[in-house]
Amino acid sequence: MSVKKVFSCCACLLFILSVKAQEIVPGEVWPDDKGIHVNAHGGGMLYVGGKYYWFGEYKSDTTSVALDGVTCYSSPDLVHWKNEGISLPVMPENSYSDIERGCILERPKVVFNKKTGKYVMWFHLELKGKGYAAARVGVAVSDKVTGPYRFVHSYRPCAGFWPENMPDKHRNLSETPDDFKEWWTPEWLAAVDNGLFVRRDRLGGQMSRDMTIFVDDDERAYHIYASEENLTLQIAELSADYQSHTGRYIRIFPGGHNEAPAIFKKDGTYYLITSGCTGWEPNAARLFSAPSIWGPWKQHPNPCRGTGAEKTFHSQGTFIFPVEGKKDVFIFMADRWRPKHPSDARYIWLPIQFENGLPVLKWMDKWNLKDL
Ligand code: DGJ
Repeated sequence: MSVKKVFSCCACLLFILSVKAQEIVPGEVWPDDKGIHVNAHGGGMLYVGGKYYWFGEYKSDTTSVALDGVTCYSSPDLVHWKNEGISLPVMPENSYSDIERGCILERPKVVFNKKTGKYVMWFHLELKGKGYAAARVGVAVSDKVTGPYRFVHSYRPCAGFWPENMPDKHRNLSETPDDFKEWWTPEWLAAVDNGLFVRRDRLGGQMSRDMTIFVDDDERAYHIYASEENLTLQIAELSADYQSHTGRYIRIFPGGHNEAPAIFKKDGTYYLITSGCTGWEPNAARLFSAPSIWGPWKQHPNPCRGTGAEKTFHSQGTFIFPVEGKKDVFIFMADRWRPKHPSDARYIWLPIQFENGLPVLKWMDKWNLKDL
């Protein structure tokens, strides 16, 4: 073979390798800078100063409870990830901290507050040894994006407040959950719709499990969470420093049994993708849209298309983020859970496409950011 030919073969190979090195391959092992599968489950993304920061649950090999805390990875291109370590560590056992080792700490999301200059991390928190009964949201802050984050507080949101879209006549009803022997009857569903659990939890605060945080164009931030025994989603406004709630909130789709909320905004419309409630098992994604964060929210058909669409391609959504420098390019992040080997859960990331004016998700074996 001539020197020229060898040279052009090598150049060709290098080109193929560099294109491959930029590919996102949903469902495969995603090695970090140390060659270890990224461990950032139920995560969220924040873009700061030329880099993406991915925060997620650090899962162990055998249990889904939090033994370490929230991890952070950074990347300039969404493909090569540097492990930045544990950004919010759990506290030692018997420390009586809300985030004691062995608690359940899920779906962390970090936002930056321009007024205070602080990074604020929100997450779903369940107190150690209490299963999923506490249904709290937790807050931690840091001056640096990678942390360490300092735990601030955990609580059930909006204690003492009524949802803005709950009519007066429903605020004064006297029926309680104990009045119903059976769930899912038409009478019970009507009572849920009328705020059965909102009334029960009004003084102590609303239940808050799967969640996300959304910062709007006007810098106001919102907490979107599965509430009322996972039956109803609530959307609540955060305070100006993003570290607590203002008490302004609405309920959406009472009795709809939605969790895993992920939201984005395009051309003034808010799009919300959720899942149903089947634990670690996947189910069909749901799609909603609204002209304002305060609604009215409308449901659309399942946004997934093709093989695997009925199970969200065997995954559950966690976050949607815009790609920096590309107009209207959004990525849907989801988890393919592995409850028997939690650390080996896989990531399903797909670009959001639009068809007939609505977002759709189509399976791709692999894809490249440069093609979007
Ligand atoms: C589904 C939720 O989306 C997950 O974050 C986790 O809480 C599991 N349920 C637990 O079964």
